[in-house]
Amino acid sequence: MAAYIPDDKISAIKNASDIVDIVSEMVSLRRAGRNFLGLCPFHAEKTPSFTVSPDKQIFYCFGCGAGGNVFSFLMKQGGLTFPEAARALAVRYAIDLPTRDLSPHEKKKLTERETILTLNDAAVSFYRNCLFEDERGKQAKAYLLKRGMIEKTIDEFKLGFAPDGWDNLARHFRARRKPVEMALLAGLVVPRKNGDGHYDRFRNRIIFPIFNAQNQPAGFGGRVLDDALPKYLNSPETPVYSKSRSLYGLARARQKCREMQTVYVVEGYFDLLAMHQCGITNTVATLGTSLTDDHVQILKGFVGEGGKAVLVYDSDQAGIKAAQRSVSVFQKGLLEARILVLPKGHDPDSFLMAHGPDEFFKAAGQSMGMIPFMVESAVEKFGLSIDGKVRIVNDLKSAIVAIGDPIARSLRIKQLAERIGVDETILLQKIRPNPPRPARTVWPPGGQGPGKAPDPDPVRGETYRLERQMVAMMLQFPEMIAQIKGRRIMDHFTDSVLAEIGRGIIEHFAQVGSDIAGLVSQWEDSEKKAIVVRLSLTDEHWDRDGCMNLINQFEASIHRRDKGLLRRIEAAEKSGDESLLAELLQEKQRQARKTMEKHSGVNH
Ligand code: UTP
Ligand code: MN
Repeated sequence: MAAYIPDDKISAIKNASDIVDIVSEMVSLRRAGRNFLGLCPFHAEKTPSFTVSPDKQIFYCFGCGAGGNVFSFLMKQGGLTFPEAARALAVRYAIDLPTRDLSPHEKKKLTERETILTLNDAAVSFYRNCLFEDERGKQAKAYLLKRGMIEKTIDEFKLGFAPDGWDNLARHFRARRKPVEMALLAGLVVPRKNGDGHYDRFRNRIIFPIFNAQNQPAGFGGRVLDDALPKYLNSPETPVYSKSRSLYGLARARQKCREMQTVYVVEGYFDLLAMHQCGITNTVATLGTSLTDDHVQILKGFVGEGGKAVLVYDSDQAGIKAAQRSVSVFQKGLLEARILVLPKGHDPDSFLMAHGPDEFFKAAGQSMGMIPFMVESAVEKFGLSIDGKVRIVNDLKSAIVAIGDPIARSLRIKQLAERIGVDETILLQKIRPNPPRPARTVWPPGGQGPGKAPDPDPVRGETYRLERQMVAMMLQFPEMIAQIKGRRIMDHFTDSVLAEIGRGIIEHFAQVGSDIAGLVSQWEDSEKKAIVVRLSLTDEHWDRDGCMNLINQFEASIHRRDKGLLRRIEAAEKSGDESLLAELLQEKQRQARKTMEKHSGVNH
């Protein structure tokens, strides 16, 4: 795969990029000794076990086993292929990449996302020009001003206008020889029903470009200027835009989210713009869809450990619906969420325009936790008659069952019991989670799913443990590699994966010196990659004496193994087990060959 991009370019990209920088865009990291720690973006966790090493330029999650270098992070996090990740980094660090060596097919696949992003970028400029420099934009500009948008906001969010007419953008692209089939993939144009040509998706609408976390224009929203329907139109799913992962205003919200450890989640474009315009820039918008698991993981990366999301809604009803839909998403994602319901008839936009940010913060002070909010709403809805209480419990059951932490769950049940005056033990019986499934252990590391990656695998025993330690030593104390090579330690490894890793280290480090991130790039294989990053980050202190000890210990164990073999051969001879004997003799021959090679210095 790496063949698409010349090796020297890959090295240049690797040398230029900083993994802490790249990971920080998605995950809030704090320093912990020589490394950085944060909440893992690849599984739900409350205490950080996601480790990033600036020295070694790798990451590893001690919770789920995900790990690798800066390329692996982008591939896993952004769903990119290796060349795409490399290209994204090259663009960011201004490294020129040739494309001429690609076959037409490779070129097409590789550049599809880039072409779409380029076209989107061109569309952003086109729509902006129409808003500002075009006679036709006057009305749209007036509309934005009427909605209280100031020039700075319009500019920062690169708002635009798609003029009336069927093919303004399509003609604009054609005149500049931009590929129409790509505009189709980008969702900017739609094929005509009669199969003859294309027309613009967005016509006579205010345009809101939707930027991704890297601040690239991934999609668009468009609003009519009057009461026509549909009020808003959005980009379809494309290779660069997915509704379930996108949040409007994300890139501009990052810094304040970190500072405040809080993110406000609103529903609409104008809500978001009003919040940002009022300086409440730790706000993102979901654009009318409900929050997904991916959204929650992204937001958690922004607010960090101990952070929270505040969902802002324009009515009790909307709040209740949203709480019901998203309570389990937040429970699962282990992110604290609160609900803020604005006074009747107001959405965040209209509220801020009418009352300003101070009043907003006052209201935000009244926000409630998800479950208490649902309890109060249910009490209000059903009342506290006997019948009402039964309905309340039924209404809240699934939300409370979804609380993963048993202590938190039982406390909620206790609160509910007190609030509605029902016996706690009866509630406990009624609100009961399904029996837990047996925990799965994850091995090899890098495997997906919950559970701690065991270290090291207990069933593989002492030899395996020693071999892992040997590899850890090579990674963390490369001064010993010459010894290990000289004594041909690798030839005695019983675990073929570890042996391959060990040989890889010897070879790679001999060429470029101690370079773990580069070593990891050589392996697509996520098992080897994960073992290397993990063993690079174990907290051990290495010194020459300790290392020599380990090597001696390892050689002694080889020796013991050999002696054990002799004993087993004797036993097999005595008992007359022919087939076992043959097997053992073969093993002995194999070992003898190794030893001979070792002494004659012949390479295999
Ligand atoms: P709302 O209907 O609450 O509108 O939709 P709004 O955001 O307050 O819009 P304004 O203030 O009248 O301009 C909330 C969000 O739902 C999505 C949009 O993202 C919108 O901002 N939506 C709404 C659509 O995608 N399509 C629609 O037709 C309506
Ligand atoms: Mn509104």
